[in-house]
Amino acid sequence: MADKIVSAIDIGSSKIATIVGIKSQESSDLRIIGFHSTPSKGVKKGLIVDIDDITMAVEESVEKAERMAGHKINNVFISVGGPHIASLNSHGVVAASNPQGEIVEEDVNRAIEAARAISISNTREIIEVLPREYVVDGQAGIKNPIGMTGIRLEVDTHIITASHTNLKNLERCLSELGLTNVGFIFAGLASAEAVLTDTEKELGVVLVDIGGGKTDLCLYVDGALSHSSSIPVGAKHITNDIAVGLRVSLQSAEKIKLNLLRYVQQKKDPFKKTQEINLSDLRLPENLGEVSLKQISDGIIAPRLEEMYKLIFEEVEKSSYASAVPSGLVITGGGALTIGMIETGKRVMGMPIRIGSPTDVSGLVDELLNPQYATTVGLLLYGQQNIMEETNWKNFNRILREVNFGNPVAKVKDFLKQFIP
Ligand SMILES: Nc1ncnc2c1ncn2[C@@H]1O[C@H](COP(=O)(O)OP(=O)(O)OP(=O)(O)O)[C@@H](O)[C@H]1O
Ligand SMILES: [Mg+2]
Repeated sequence: MADKIVSAIDIGSSKIATIVGIKSQESSDLRIIGFHSTPSKGVKKGLIVDIDDITMAVEESVEKAERMAGHKINNVFISVGGPHIASLNSHGVVAASNPQGEIVEEDVNRAIEAARAISISNTREIIEVLPREYVVDGQAGIKNPIGMTGIRLEVDTHIITASHTNLKNLERCLSELGLTNVGFIFAGLASAEAVLTDTEKELGVVLVDIGGGKTDLCLYVDGALSHSSSIPVGAKHITNDIAVGLRVSLQSAEKIKLNLLRYVQQKKDPFKKTQEINLSDLRLPENLGEVSLKQISDGIIAPRLEEMYKLIFEEVEKSSYASAVPSGLVITGGGALTIGMIETGKRVMGMPIRIGSPTDVSGLVDELLNPQYATTVGLLLYGQQNIMEETNWKNFNRILREVNFGNPVAKVKDFLKQFIP
């Protein structure tokens, strides 16, 4: 089979990033051939607030990524996140089509479809249905029931839903640019794909993506996604606090924040926070000179981080899996680079904490191996699996949606054509 080109757009509150990769059948690696990130416009806390603004930003990012890749982008996976995301776990039961024989793929698909039949408000849409485990004739904990003998097949699924209006707005932005959406992917799930190890997922872990305007969470128990949500706080709040605390503009506060780690690394004793740091080299309009690092890190940033961790803690408690995550928290997203992230987190959460950066990609990757691009890289990693496996549920859901919305049959045919090698 030929190499596959996969493209994705990460719609963030701080940046819009377009990425293009090649997945070959021979190697397990995903090779990045195009990438461009541009400051975001028209997005707040994961919600689209201005379609024209976001369309312009996406257009710029896509054009530049296309130029780098030397390849026209047509089909894209797209990230969705923010507090409009909700999740639930649903159970499906079916009788095996051949009670004397083996369970076949069609039985599995029917079981998942049964689990999918939940009643949700018409303002929401299902964007993900992930099997967590199967039960065959009462035997639980089965990861793949195909080929087993059984009469009764049950499946536990994790379902993620999102605001219909927000998804429609994203679709509109893409259609204005002549792009086809091949799947909405929850930003937290994409980040988890990029930074978590299989061992962490098996043991139980919480992925926390702290972006500019929101924080996405994905909680894994026994290797399966068990809870997803998003809270409306992000690293922009820290910038606001620095602006208020040091009486500077938001632009200056952001500049100071982005340089703090560099100042700490330059210091002779990085753990001693009493020293002053000299901000004059940032050439801020406010002409700031020496300021106390302790004042910024302990007085301004730490209280905000504490508050963010308390909200994360509440979210983990709400999931009812708080005692099932011994691997603790893996923090990613641009906000993960905030000074004091690990120390404050360990204190508030009482759990192991590490910072996660994307792995498992090659090519033009230097810039991408940064927590800020966890969702961006994850979209490709998650997306390419869905292109490779043609019977995958994401594709199936998408086909159903196209048919449900009454689109012409030709469009569905076109859509199917892209999966034929
Ligand atoms: N080195 C750094 N130190 C501190 N903060 C940083 C650093 N680099 C990036 N950030 C912060 O991370 C935030 C952006 O993160 P990210 O790119 O993950 O957001 P986003 O994906 O655009 O937004 P969202 O996911 O909330 O929609 C900004 O607030 C930025 O200030
Ligand atoms: Mg993000």
